[in-house]
Amino acid sequence: MNQTKHVLQQQDGAILLLTINRPEKKNALTLDMYQALIDGLTLAEQDDTIRVVLLSGHADCFTSGNDIQDFMAAASQPDKAALPLKFLQTISTFSKPVIAVVAGDAVGIGTSMLLHCDLVFCKHDARFQLPFARLGLVPEGGTSLLLPQQLGHRLAFELLVMGNRIDGVRAAELGLVNSASDDPLGDAKKAAQQLSSMPPQAVKLSKKMMKSHQQALLQTVLLDEVAQFKERLSSAEAKEAFTAFLEKRPPVFN
Ligand code: COA
Repeated sequence: MNQTKHVLQQQDGAILLLTINRPEKKNALTLDMYQALIDGLTLAEQDDTIRVVLLSGHADCFTSGNDIQDFMAAASQPDKAALPLKFLQTISTFSKPVIAVVAGDAVGIGTSMLLHCDLVFCKHDARFQLPFARLGLVPEGGTSLLLPQQLGHRLAFELLVMGNRIDGVRAAELGLVNSASDDPLGDAKKAAQQLSSMPPQAVKLSKKMMKSHQQALLQTVLLDEVAQFKERLSSAEAKEAFTAFLEKRPPVFN
């Protein structure tokens, strides 16, 4: 099993806790970290003693999304995009409940992945942002399908194209999360306990029924998004956005 120091794995009864743990880089996700998350979910899928997965980050950052250095490397090695895609395929088809806890920033895939979780609890001042277009990229993670479905075109446009950031209170108002509170981990653990004491097959079947109507469509959308995302990674716009981030200056798009 691939447990790295950057993704901690701990079983507490029937609950598997996966904790993203790279605070010095705001929990930015490297390819190793994607692999560790995939391995954790695969283990949880196969192990009957695990009934719920609880996914969390650090006290001040859920994740700042894909590691920008990896994005730059992927521009010359497009196959590197395969692991983030595999992670999204794994979490979006995972059969048991996944509960996410968000404190601090959830950027890019940090927010996209929440659309595949069954419950999301966050801090009032958590920050959610999908800055794909600002970075010269396009939506990923099924957001181009799921976000307009959940919010309607205009609100989704604000978040997905303009890349506007919202806090936990607003995210709860919009229904992007279940609730915003001072103790989202406590809220998540309570929900996890409730779910892990319920009949596991009934829970799994119910989740499957809720998602089955558009599962095939979602999987096609994930692939389509990645194909366009890969092209954008080597665009001049993306290059300028990534370089500007690393040089700590505003990007200039001529
Ligand atoms: N990839 C690589 N490194 C990242 C990163 C990322 N996605 N996000 C943050 N870091 C690094 C910074 O480069 C910095 O490293 P340094 O200390 O070696 O200079 C460190 O993490 C701290 O980040 P910083 O920007 O100083 O923290 P902040 O609290 O001011 O801002 C964020 C936090 C998350 C708002 C900001 O870091 C950010 O916008 N990150 C990029 C998010 C992004 O665009 N992700 C891709 C989405 S598709």
